[in-house]
Amino acid sequence: MLNKEDFVGFESHEYRPIIRSQSMKILQQLVKERKPKNILEIGTFIGYSASVMLDANKDAYIISLEKDKQNAVDAIKNLKEQGFTGRFEVVNCDAFDYLQENSLNQFDLIFLDGPKGQYYKYFPYLKKMLKSGGVLVADDVLFYGLVESKEKIEHKHRSLVNNLRKFLALLNDDNEFETVVHHIDNGMSVSVKK
Ligand SMILES: C[S@@+](CC[C@H](N)C(=O)[O-])C[C@H]1O[C@@H](n2cnc3c(N)ncnc32)[C@H](O)[C@@H]1O
Repeated sequence: MLNKEDFVGFESHEYRPIIRSQSMKILQQLVKERKPKNILEIGTFIGYSASVMLDANKDAYIISLEKDKQNAVDAIKNLKEQGFTGRFEVVNCDAFDYLQENSLNQFDLIFLDGPKGQYYKYFPYLKKMLKSGGVLVADDVLFYGLVESKEKIEHKHRSLVNNLRKFLALLNDDNEFETVVHHIDNGMSVSVKK
């Protein structure tokens, strides 16, 4: 079992934005069942979820995008230490730049775990980059229940919540996707492309 406390960088972050346990189990199960060979991850942090996916399918290769330089360095160290040398590329970049420049790349699974307010903007690229039969998994789509709340959203969260609503509407309105939103942790959407 991968132990996130052993990962370089874990202790130095007071706020540790790592996939939560129930979402992790869904992702792990999906990778075990569907055996995606080419995975794109947006939001590496220190490489924990990437390790979970690589561990769940020995034939998987991951390209993982991380904007923060130190996180990218730590993630590379951790992924090597976990024995995944040759099975990953951590790209230190802004995810949107990567998507715009590499939209012809094709993936079997895309795990979206980066800036939540940008998911809707990424969607047209992700759709294009996902193979038919591939799966798009997005973490934290319900943002502490606020995305489905009927209450007035506090100003500080309003644009993030509206952007997540836009993202979920794009998924639900798209006939090429079959989407399920799991009401666990902070909410996780799983969308299979026909
Ligand atoms: C929730 S964390 C990822 C956690 C990781 N997937 C895990 O569960 O182990 C989100 C990460 O996205 C990175 N990030 C934020 N904005 C980004 C952007 N525009 N492009 C690429 N990475 C970004 C952050 O630096 C952070 O490390």
